Amino acid sequence: MTTADLSLVDCPPTADFSDAVARLFDGEQVHRDAYTSATVYRLEQRRLLARSWIYLGHVSQTPSAGDFIAVTVAEVPLLMVRQADGGVVVLINRCAHKGAMMTCAASGQAGRALRCPYHAWAYRLDGSLLALPIREGYEGTGLARSQAARGLTVVASAVHRGFVFVRLSSTGASFEEQVPEGMRRCIDAMADRSPTGTLEVAGPALRSVIECNWKIYLENVNDTVHASVTHESSAESASRTWEALQRSGEAPARKPMAMEQLLPFSQGSDFMERMGGQVFSGGHSILGINASLHSDYSSIPGYEAAMVAAWGETKTADILRWSPQNAVIYPSIAFKSMPQTLRVIRPLGVNRTLVEVWAFRALGAPDALLERTLTYNRIVFSPMSLVAHDDVQVFESIQRALASPGNEWVNLQRGARGMDPAGDSIVGGTDERMIRNQYRAWAAALALPESVAEADAAPHGSVHEGLGEGLDR
Ligand code: FES
Ligand SMILES: [Fe+2]
Repeated sequence: MTTADLSLVDCPPTADFSDAVARLFDGEQVHRDAYTSATVYRLEQRRLLARSWIYLGHVSQTPSAGDFIAVTVAEVPLLMVRQADGGVVVLINRCAHKGAMMTCAASGQAGRALRCPYHAWAYRLDGSLLALPIREGYEGTGLARSQAARGLTVVASAVHRGFVFVRLSSTGASFEEQVPEGMRRCIDAMADRSPTGTLEVAGPALRSVIECNWKIYLENVNDTVHASVTHESSAESASRTWEALQRSGEAPARKPMAMEQLLPFSQGSDFMERMGGQVFSGGHSILGINASLHSDYSSIPGYEAAMVAAWGETKTADILRWSPQNAVIYPSIAFKSMPQTLRVIRPLGVNRTLVEVWAFRALGAPDALLERTLTYNRIVFSPMSLVAHDDVQVFESIQRALASPGNEWVNLQRGARGMDPAGDSIVGGTDERMIRNQYRAWAAALALPESVAEADAAPHGSVHEGLGEGLDR
């Protein structure tokens, strides 16, 4: 630790870091410390992640009362528990007695109550204290006035079309205020691809831990220019194989699903520009508002008929016409309405990121629709796939190389002619504005000091220790 680090050790969470944050993002470039500083990472946990609506899970993961899933968000262990009335409640996975985690299982069925494995304190499904052993031992004590008597801590949650989001901070913007209607409509567009309007999780997620900062992954979701370069070998081999099959006359009449999904990766920058994008304040974005690599997938037998029977011709045409490349609800998810796939970006440390890839079944649709999603996840998003391993190799190389001397900046100036206007805008598909827009939201959150109430209520570690590195330049 340097002397400069020591000078900031006692800096309170309510401190104003706006000057330091302005030096990390100048509107067009990001300083490497934003990706490599443990201090910046800790600040992100409190000021960005705790205040944001972060994706937790889908209601279909807990179909019956008492079902739960355990998920860690911003280092806080959480339980999403299905209630008897059909709703879900999100609780901090920490016993009110002495802090044991109520469960270490990733999912399970609690029955009518959650019971701590340490001394058997029991809680109703909504987290309120139900029973505790040796109750007479607490007679005449201050237990009733203690924090313990309040039971498990409830975290703010919001459900949109079955997708459950949480906000760790006890105060702050509502889900509707923070996630604009244009982004909520992207979730609707995914759910409406089901003739019943309902999605359910199909199997467990593909999970991979990548040795890079989480922001490198999320930037890439809006980086159209890399596709034909980084994924050239996959797209070219697919193309050569398909052409050879066609020349030999052995090509099947119907293009195989995997081929249909891989070939568009060779699209050049003209196509990528025409895809277009839309940015929203708060870091959110939709890439591919005009077209996407998914636009020309062939129809699935029986699917359109099932949709028309459910929604009518006009609405079906509207639903099926639109298939953006990626929608980002900042800062935790990237998803597609078709194929029905969702990536969750969960930071584990300044240089470690967990990526979960979930497939959804559109209830009432032919099985081939789910097969399309599973095929896409396997060949594009799985770490062992033909596509994602190229990305992972680059992401991890960025994390290693950023620490090198010389150039301290990551450049995001493509399309930046003057200061980006605030608010929602339509942009070209190759404009790095979609990425700058993420950093605009990132910088605004980090620069905003925590209120005393936020700092007191923050459910996780303080940023007191080790302040320094990127913030005292
Ligand atoms: S820590 Fe949970 S009952 Fe004691
Ligand atoms: Fe990629």
